[in-house]
Amino acid sequence: MVARAERVVSIGPTHHGKDLAETTVNAWLLGDDTHVVVVDVGYDDGAVREVVGARRVSMVACTHGHREHVMRAPALAASFGAAVLLHPDDHELWHQTHPDTEADGELLDGQVLRVATVEIRVLHTPGHTPGSVCLYIPALASVCTGDTLITAGRDPRLLEAIHDRLRSLPPKTSVLPAHGEPTTLQRLAPDLAVRPAP
Ligand SMILES: [Fe+2]
Repeated sequence: MVARAERVVSIGPTHHGKDLAETTVNAWLLGDDTHVVVVDVGYDDGAVREVVGARRVSMVACTHGHREHVMRAPALAASFGAAVLLHPDDHELWHQTHPDTEADGELLDGQVLRVATVEIRVLHTPGHTPGSVCLYIPALASVCTGDTLITAGRDPRLLEAIHDRLRSLPPKTSVLPAHGEPTTLQRLAPDLAVRPAP
């Protein structure tokens, strides 16, 4: 029953301004041998299903409403009878990809999700999008940051959110982002130490 985080990388088109470019996206599976929560799905829900195997999935948590993270969420959730969860401030973004469907439930600041032996705490960190959340898993000393850190340095609101929320976590906490390689809060400390302009 070892709790762990597993990554499934997929690749697909993302808009950069007017251009479409291929981007890699991470899905994170948090849980143990019996039960996992899927954090973001990426482009390939089939690949996620393969890694889940025979385990139970009751929740698909979306760190925010951008297309490459939510497009396959309803399909994946339906195949497991799971609920798609999203912060309500990203419903508008969600509807750009899924105009006729709603997420099944909400991710709210301070909420705690329990998946088998693993506890996941929701931190609302607006900035990248209004409803962006980070998911902190104390037992794994890890935090799923979605795209929250991507625009760090540019958006004062985002920086403020990072300061308030992420800097209070232990420095050795692993950062599991929605794009690219994992890192740690310690390695990001120089960036996180910058105070936003008043
Ligand atoms: Fe995003």
